[in-house]
Amino acid sequence: MRNFMDNLTKIPAGNVDVLHVSFDSWTRKREVPTLGTNTGAEKLPFQEWHHFKEAFTPELVAKAANGSKRELLRCADPFGGSGTTALTCQFIGVEPVTIEVNPYLADLIEAKLCTYDSDDLVRSLGQILKMVHFAKPSLKRFATLPPTFIESHNKERWIFNKPVAYQIAAYLDAIDTLPDSIHRRFFRIQLGGMLVNVSNVVINGKGRRYRRNWVSRFISPHEIDTLFCERSQKAILEVHTHRFRKEQKYTLIRGDCRQATADIGLIDGAIFSPPYPNSFDYTDVYNIELWVLGYLSRAPDNRMLRESTLCSHVQIKRAFPPPPKGSKHLAIVLKRLNGVRNDLWSPWIPEMVGGYFHDMKLVLEGLYSQLASEGEAWAVVGDSQYAGVPVPTAEILAELAPTVGYKVVNIEAFRSMRASAQQGGQEELDETLIVLRKR
Ligand SMILES: C[S@@+](CC[C@H](N)C(=O)[O-])C[C@H]1O[C@@H](n2cnc3c(N)ncnc32)[C@H](O)[C@@H]1O
Repeated sequence: MRNFMDNLTKIPAGNVDVLHVSFDSWTRKREVPTLGTNTGAEKLPFQEWHHFKEAFTPELVAKAANGSKRELLRCADPFGGSGTTALTCQFIGVEPVTIEVNPYLADLIEAKLCTYDSDDLVRSLGQILKMVHFAKPSLKRFATLPPTFIESHNKERWIFNKPVAYQIAAYLDAIDTLPDSIHRRFFRIQLGGMLVNVSNVVINGKGRRYRRNWVSRFISPHEIDTLFCERSQKAILEVHTHRFRKEQKYTLIRGDCRQATADIGLIDGAIFSPPYPNSFDYTDVYNIELWVLGYLSRAPDNRMLRESTLCSHVQIKRAFPPPPKGSKHLAIVLKRLNGVRNDLWSPWIPEMVGGYFHDMKLVLEGLYSQLASEGEAWAVVGDSQYAGVPVPTAEILAELAPTVGYKVVNIEAFRSMRASAQQGGQEELDETLIVLRKR
C-alpha cells in the first residue's frame, strides 16, 4: 500500500494541467481505426473499468461537439452504456445528462463521472483488503443467486468455483462496510469489471459460453486479491490524474429513456448509440454482474429490467407496441418479415422490429421536446438481418425523423474493417452515423 501512495504523490506536475485535464491528454491523440468502436484502438483510462465492447469512441463525441451547428453546453445520451458521451463531455467542458436503464451500467457511469479524494480512496482500499484478509468464509449473500452460478456437487456446470465465490463474497461484504456510498460504488465497479475474468464463462454477442478448459481452470483466492488490488490501484491513479476535468457536473437518470427523455431539461445536443434491432439484450450480457453484485435478487426483477429495455430483443414474451407510421422502408421490411415468419428463429421478430422503431421514435420525440432550436442529435445505429431480410435502420430512422420535426442533415456509413461487437461480428451489416437537426 505504501508504494502505491508514493506513486500518487510522484505524479509529475507536467502530466496534470492545473486548470483542467484536456481531452487530448486523456486520449493521447491516439489513432482510432473507426469512430464507431474502440476495438483496435489504444486503451484509455476509465474505459477498462469494465471492458464495454459496444462502446463508441470518445473521438466521435468530440467530432459531434465540434461539428454541431449549435454550441454544445448541455448534451444528452439517452443510452448511456459505459458512459462514453458523458465522460467525454466532462473532458471537453460540456455538461452531460445521461440515462441508463441497467443499474450496473448506471453505477459504472456514475463511478466514472463523480469526483473523489484519492487519498480517501486509498484508505478505503486498505480497509477492504484488511477486512478480506480476516474474513470468515461465507456464501450467505449469494443465497438467492440462480442455481448455475456457484459450484455444487449436484450440478454439472457452474459459473464460479467455490473458492472464487467465497473470495468475491468476502470482497462484497468488506465493500458494504465502507461508510461512503460513493466509495462503495467505486469498489463494487472495480470488482464487477473482473467477475467474468475469474469465472468459468466468456460473454459474447450471443450470451455466455463455458470456457473450453473450464473444468481444469483453477483461480486461487490469491489471484483474486492481486487482480482486485491492481485494478483498484490503477483506477485510483486514473481518477487522480484526471480529476481536473473541465466540467465536474453531471446528471445521471437511472431508468427507461422511453419515458425519461422528455424530462431531461433543455439540451443543445444529443450523442448516442441505441441497442441495434439485432435481438441482443444487454440484460443478458451484464447478467453476471447484475446478480453477483446484488442489483438483481429475484427472477421477476430480471424480467422487469428486460421489459424496461428498448424493444431490441425477443428474450421475453412482451406486448410489443405497434410500428410507427411514416416509413416506407419499415412497411416493406415488416411485410417481408411477415412473409418469412416460419423461417425466423423466433416468430416474434416482426413485432420486435416494429416495436423497436416505435421506441426509437418515442426517444427521438423526447429529445426533440428538450432540444434548443438547431440542436442536433448524433446517433450511431446499426442494421440487422433476419432470414435474408435486411433491416436498414438508418434509412428507416431518416424517414421517421422528419415526422417528428427533424431535418436529416447527414447520413454517413462507418466503413469498419472490423465488425463492431454490437453486430456480433457480422461484417456485412452497416453501422451508420445519422445526424438530425431540430428545425
Ligand atoms: C450501445 S449501448 C450504448 C453504448 C454507449 N454509447 C457507450 O459508448 O458506452 C446501449 C445502451 O442502452 C441501454 N438501454 C437499453 N434500453 C434502454 C432504455 N429503455 N433506457 C435507457 N437505456 C437503455 C443498454 O443498457 C445499453 O447500455
